[in-house]
Amino acid sequence: MPAIAVVGAQWGDEGKGKVVDLLAEKVNMVVRYSGGNNAGHTVMNSYGQFTLHLVPSGIFHPQVICVIGNGVVVDPKALLQELKDLQGHGVASDNLHISDRAHLIMPYHILLDTLEEKARGDSALGTTQRGVGPAYVDKVARRGIRSGDLLDKEIFRHRLSIALDYNNTLLTKVYDVSPLSLEDIFEEYYRYGEQLASHIESTELIIHEALANGKVVLLEGAQGTLLDPDFGTYPYVTSSTPVAAGASVGCGISPSQLQGIIGVYKAYTTRVGEGPMPTELPDETGELIRERAWEYGATTGRPRRCGWFDAVLGRYSTQVNGFTSFALTRLDVLDTLPQIKICTSYEYNGVVLDYPPSTADALEKCEPIYEELTGWQSSIRDIRSFKDLPAEARFYVKRIEELVDCSVNLIAVGPQREESIQVLPFP
Ligand code: GDP
Ligand code: IMO
Ligand code: MG
Repeated sequence: MPAIAVVGAQWGDEGKGKVVDLLAEKVNMVVRYSGGNNAGHTVMNSYGQFTLHLVPSGIFHPQVICVIGNGVVVDPKALLQELKDLQGHGVASDNLHISDRAHLIMPYHILLDTLEEKARGDSALGTTQRGVGPAYVDKVARRGIRSGDLLDKEIFRHRLSIALDYNNTLLTKVYDVSPLSLEDIFEEYYRYGEQLASHIESTELIIHEALANGKVVLLEGAQGTLLDPDFGTYPYVTSSTPVAAGASVGCGISPSQLQGIIGVYKAYTTRVGEGPMPTELPDETGELIRERAWEYGATTGRPRRCGWFDAVLGRYSTQVNGFTSFALTRLDVLDTLPQIKICTSYEYNGVVLDYPPSTADALEKCEPIYEELTGWQSSIRDIRSFKDLPAEARFYVKRIEELVDCSVNLIAVGPQREESIQVLPFP
């Protein structure tokens, strides 16, 4: 059985964690393929409520093998803390494998993320300040340190001295702050390596073997398509590749092995951080959605900007990812609204657009053109089949399917695992 990817279709926080936790019941392996602990994936199930930053959302299923793929950047300190928290709730991590090719987020990356944001002034991106951007910079600049390097004292020291030489020059000469100590970092991070050593290996081999043996492998994305450096709202994007194409690179399989690509859309739109968002509602409706849905960042606690569903960006997302179906989450959040709007096109400089312009400046100037639908004004949280949804809710879902040109396979009507409507069979 080939692999199936779960990909954020908007600006992240679409509910990928909930979707993966649910689907993981029916798979053998879950692989995180990109991003770092900038991600916050919320999962609510019989173990409790969790925010996962690096650990794949399949971890709650003891039979599922979980992999942190080579495309992820790993902060070992943050990962160890996450594993400890999970352990405290009775969740074992024996089944966790970490790619020896995954790059590490080091203390200088976190420091640089903060200093760079400050230096950007009014043009700050609103990063999560977890060091993710600077870690990917070191990766492509070929001075990164990989998790496998932690397993050998001499190699680790050598790699660290190269990376720290460069980064200390940046810290002292560009940002005028004190350099970091090689010995201190070496001691601390070598210890982390010892604690993680039993999990670190060539994970692409495990994944290849699983696929060869007919196992179902779910590839868990982080962030979302509109945060992709190529297809997102550049420069207000992240530094990894959240789109579906990043899934094969981020875990080491061929694109031809991706049988399914499930986009995850929230029933409305949110964004955390800076950058254009055409359907943003800086009014009481936006406020109502934020408070009703508790739209605050799972990683940083920042209030998320809320707005109507943007089908222009939604359609674009389907196209660049090639979604084979999609999951629609948080439909219940719209339960109380008498009217619900969907943005179907933009007006830009007097011209109607049905695709997003490529620059943040132009997107900022796009005026959404809305279609107004009637709300269902009743609670749908207890509904478990599509036909039992109120007619207005079914119409809303059908309209989104038409506009984004893709079929819904799953609808989430609450944060708990079971608060879900499986529309199409999985896998
Ligand atoms: P992720 O980063 O894509 O995994 O999403 P986050 O966990 O950052 O944000 C999604 C939020 O929506 C979390 O608080 C989830 O618990 C919550 N959630 C997911 N699906 C639903 C749903 O269908 N209804 C409601 N009310 N909340 C949901
Ligand atoms: P999940 O996986 C929402 C945003 C940040 C900022 C931009 C760049 O939970 O959906 P970075 O720290 O990556 O350099 O910040 O990207 N961002 C996210 N927004 N969900 C996420 O992850 C995000 N990860 C990064 O807010 O705007
Ligand atoms: Mg999140």
